[in-house]
Amino acid sequence: MNYKIALLKGDGIGPEIVDEAVKVLDKIGEKFGHKFEYTQGYLGGESIDKYGIPYSKETAKICKESDSILLGSVGGPKWDNVEPDKRPEKGLLAIRKDLGVYTNLRPAVLFKQLKSASPLKDEIIGEGLDVMIVRELTGGIYFGPREYSDEKAVDTLPYTKGEIERIAKKAFEIAKLRGKKITSVDKHNVLDTSKLWRKTVNELAKNYPEVEVSHMYVDNAAMQLIANPRQFDVILTDNMFGDILSDEASMLTGSLGMLPSASLGDGKVGLYEPSHGSAPDIAGQNIANPIATILSAAMMLRYAFNLTKEADAIEKAIAEVLEDGFRTADIYTDGLKKVGTKEMGNEIVKRI
Ligand code: NAI
Ligand code: MG
Repeated sequence: MNYKIALLKGDGIGPEIVDEAVKVLDKIGEKFGHKFEYTQGYLGGESIDKYGIPYSKETAKICKESDSILLGSVGGPKWDNVEPDKRPEKGLLAIRKDLGVYTNLRPAVLFKQLKSASPLKDEIIGEGLDVMIVRELTGGIYFGPREYSDEKAVDTLPYTKGEIERIAKKAFEIAKLRGKKITSVDKHNVLDTSKLWRKTVNELAKNYPEVEVSHMYVDNAAMQLIANPRQFDVILTDNMFGDILSDEASMLTGSLGMLPSASLGDGKVGLYEPSHGSAPDIAGQNIANPIATILSAAMMLRYAFNLTKEADAIEKAIAEVLEDGFRTADIYTDGLKKVGTKEMGNEIVKRI
């Protein structure tokens, strides 16, 4: 099959890490008989330099004509002084909104070879931590009506049944592809939106008898992620709870350079990108860890193109590279083999 991928390399380490992901995709194409065709668009600072704004019509068109989007990262000190509405990070919000991507998938996977990077004790982190946080991304308290004065400020937390249903559906579909277990996280004892959330999830659960559903209060979920993180498979939650819990979960794995993400909507085009930023402090030095971006490409194969074997092959190659002792600087410990961005990409390609 042919797949059209929009590449938005972005700023800082973006171009370096996206180039490695492309190498890996091309190897997958060669091995499994697919053709990936790339079109480059521009987002963030590079777009400001080219078009004067962080997300342009030109790039929107490229994205919408593609089957999927692979994004590096945006932002950097070069654009610190542009006016707030035109900052690189505004490009990210604009593209998410434009594509209607209301689902944010943030997996927290601990490769057993990196166990010592986790802040949790060995016996608690154990082996095989693999949690998928499914966060609602375009509703809830970050988007509710608000008011502000110096005496009183108000944020509101609205959710419609439709908004809950569509994110919950995504979580069920994803759970079916994984451990078939959903923990829906809310604050049902206090919030009305959580009542609607729980009711809607329970109704939907009837259509997915193969998926086991349970509910948990968010404060308990925050504790359980530290006390017994391996009990979770898929965590389904709203925008703000998901924001906080996904950052908490990501830290269990100990390394920003390893964490992919995906943002999906009902349109055909999803956005796949590493969870980290543009790391301007290490840009252009061939030392950034490309694995978060390569894992994002694997998520693209799995969720956008339904290429499960191919996604598995990438994840397996990464595990083997780590097993063989190759490390970029951010995950390096004494006695192992320190490699740069390109070398890490090459080692992964070799094992596919
Ligand atoms: P950051 O994630 O870029 O960097 C934090 C620290 O982690 C830095 O020391 C960096 O060197 C290191 N790091 C990040 N990714 C790495 C990788 N792949 N390999 C090795 N080390 C890595 O966050 P920071 O410094 O807060 O933000 C820098 C810029 O990135 C800012 O302009 C910020 O707005 C932007 N940003 C963009 C995001 C995006 O594009 N989705 C997300 C977060 C921040
Ligand atoms: Mg956050």
